[in-house]
Amino acid sequence: MVDFLNGLERTHKCGQLRAADIDKQVTVMGFVAKYRNLGNLLFIDLRDIGGVVQVAFDDQVDKAIFDKATTIRNEYVIAVTGKVRSRGSNINKNMPTGEVEILAHDLKILSEADVTPFVITEDIKVGEPLRLKYRYLDLRRSALQSKLVMRDKITRVVRNYLSDNGFLEIETPFLGKSTPEGARDYLVPSRLHNGEFYALPQSPQLFKQLLMIAGMDRYYQIAKCFRDEDLRANRQPEFSQIDMEMSYVEDNEQVMNVAEGLIKAVFKECLGMELNEKFRRIPYSEAMEKWGSDKPDTRFDMQLKDLSDIAKDCGFSVFTNAVAGGGSVRAINAKGLCSKMTRKEVDACGEFVKSYGAKGLAYAMFREDGSITSSILKFLSEEEQKAIFETMDAQKGDILFFVADKNKVVFDSLGALRCHIADKYELYDKSKFDFLWVVDFPLLEYSEEDGRYYAVHHPFTSAIVEDIPLLDTDPLKVRSNAYDMVINGQEAGGGSIRIHDPLMQEKIFSILGFTQEDIEERFGFFVEAFKYGAPPHGGLAFGLDRLTMLVTGTDNIKDVIAFPKVQNASCLMSGAPSPVEDKQLKELAIKFDEKKD
Ligand code: AMO
Ligand code: AMP
Repeated sequence: MVDFLNGLERTHKCGQLRAADIDKQVTVMGFVAKYRNLGNLLFIDLRDIGGVVQVAFDDQVDKAIFDKATTIRNEYVIAVTGKVRSRGSNINKNMPTGEVEILAHDLKILSEADVTPFVITEDIKVGEPLRLKYRYLDLRRSALQSKLVMRDKITRVVRNYLSDNGFLEIETPFLGKSTPEGARDYLVPSRLHNGEFYALPQSPQLFKQLLMIAGMDRYYQIAKCFRDEDLRANRQPEFSQIDMEMSYVEDNEQVMNVAEGLIKAVFKECLGMELNEKFRRIPYSEAMEKWGSDKPDTRFDMQLKDLSDIAKDCGFSVFTNAVAGGGSVRAINAKGLCSKMTRKEVDACGEFVKSYGAKGLAYAMFREDGSITSSILKFLSEEEQKAIFETMDAQKGDILFFVADKNKVVFDSLGALRCHIADKYELYDKSKFDFLWVVDFPLLEYSEEDGRYYAVHHPFTSAIVEDIPLLDTDPLKVRSNAYDMVINGQEAGGGSIRIHDPLMQEKIFSILGFTQEDIEERFGFFVEAFKYGAPPHGGLAFGLDRLTMLVTGTDNIKDVIAFPKVQNASCLMSGAPSPVEDKQLKELAIKFDEKKD
C-alpha cells in the first residue's frame, strides 16, 4: 500500500538545503538513491532534479517511522518531513548539501520500485543500449538532467533575445510537402488521399519565406526537423533548429549580426562568457586552402600548405600525376609529434585518410638525431626537398603528412587528419571556444555523376551581386550570400539572403536543370507567391542540439535529447519504428512488396 500526499507539499528541493537551513522544518520528495541501515539508524540519499540530500531515520525518534523506513528500497518515491540538522563531524565536502541532513519524523511512501535493470549512479558503467532502453531511468542521473536543464536555459535565452529583437514565434506545419534541403524525406501516407503522402519538414524553409511575403516581418521558431540521412555523432533523424527569418535585409552582415548577438547572449547567460569581439569572417576558399574544411577548427594550427608547384615535376609519379590532372599535392606539419608517434601510429593515419578517399599518405619524420624517415624523399631532388621543408617550416621533431589527389580528396583527407591528430595528441585546450563565420560559399556545385548543378545551400539562396554575370559564363565561380557559423569546428548554424526576384529564381531553377513541370509540381505555390510582392529577406537556422552539445561540452548528440534515436534511426525504448495493423494499412491502401531486409 502506498501513501497519498493528502495535501502535503514540498518546502524545498533536495539539493537546496544548506547550513543556513539548520533547525528548519522541511518537506522534500524524491527518489531513493541509496540506503544504509545501521540497526538503530537508517540513512537515505534522496534525489530530485535539484540534487541529493541525506535523510536520517532514528528509531529513538519514532519507532513506527523507523520501521516503515526499513521497507524502503532504491528508487522508491518518498516524501519526508523532518528537521534539518548539522552533520557535525560527518560533513561530506563532495555534496553541495553535505553539511546537513534531515532528521525525519514523517515518511510517506508514494511509489514502490522494482529492482532497476541497472543501478542509477553517476559513474554508470552500463552499456548505452540498456541505458537507452530504460531512458527514463538513465535520465534520473544528474549528468543527463543537467544537460536538459541547460537546453531549457538556452531556449529561454533564445526566445527572450529574439522577442526583444522583434521576432515573432510562429509555428509551421509538420504535415507538408517536400522541402529543398536535399536529404531523404520522412513520408506520411494520407488516408483521405490514398496514394498521396505528406513529407515531414526537413526545415521550415518555404514556410518561413512565405511568412515574410505575408508581411510578418521577423519570424522565429524552435522547429522540429526530420531528415532521413545517415546518422553520425552530431546528427539525429529528428532534431531541432532555432529557425529565423527577417525582412528588409539584403546584406549578409545584417542577419549575421543578429545571429551573432544571439550566440553571444546564449554563451553569456549559460556559461558567463563575455564575447565582446566580432567573430572572424573567413571566406570559403580560404577555409578550404588553410584548413581543408568549410567548418574549420582553428583552435590549433597545422594548416595545409600547397606544394603543387614544387612537386609538379618531381620524380614521384603519384604527385606529378595529381597535379597534371588538375589536382594538387598538399601537406600538414604535425609539429613536435615525431617522438610521440610510433611508425604504427603513422601507418594508422594512412588508414584514417583512406576513408576520405585518399589513396595513400606520404610522410616525412624528422628525428631528433637529424635523420629523416620518409616514404617519398627518395623520389625528390635535394632542391625539391629543401623547398618543401622551407614551405612546411619542418624542424627536428616534426612529421609532415602529404596527400596528392583531386582537390576535394586532398582537402577532405588532410582537413580531417589535422583534427584527428589534434584530438588524439591533445594539441589544444578543449575548454576553449572558437567562433567564426564562413562566408562567400560557392552558389553551385557540379555533380559529375548526375551531370548537373546542385545548389550548395538551397535553390532559394541569392548570388553575390557582382558575381551575377558569371551565372551565364562560369556558374561554378559564382559566390552566394550564404554563411555558416562554425563553433569548435562544428557547423552550428547556417543561412542565406534569399532570392526575392521571380526572374532570378527562374534563372537559378533553369541552371539547376528543373523543368517548368518540376518547378510547378515541387514549388509552384511558393514561386507564385513571389509575384504578389516579396520584401528582400534572409535568415538562418542554428542546430539547437548541436548548440547544446557545445555549451554542455559533450560530443554525443544523444546526451542533449530526452529521447534520442540510435544509429539505425530506431528508438530502443519504444521500439519505433514498428509494424502497424492490417486495418491501418488497408485504410491507407498500402500493400508491401517483400521486406527489404
Ligand atoms: P541547414 O540544413 O544547414 O540549413 O541546417 C541548419 C542547422 O541545423 C543543424 N542540423 C542538424 N542537427 C542535428 N542533426 C541533423 N541531422 C542536422 N542537420 C542539420 C546544423 C545546421 O547548421 N533552412 C536552412 C537554414 C536557412 O537557410 O535559414 C537549413 O535547414 O547545426
Ligand atoms: P608507393 O610507391 O606506392 O609505396 O608509395 C610511396 C608512399 O606514397 C607511401 O607512403 C604511400 O602511402 C604514399 N602515397 C601513395 N599514394 C599517395 C597519394 N595519393 N598521396 C600521398 N601519398 C601517397
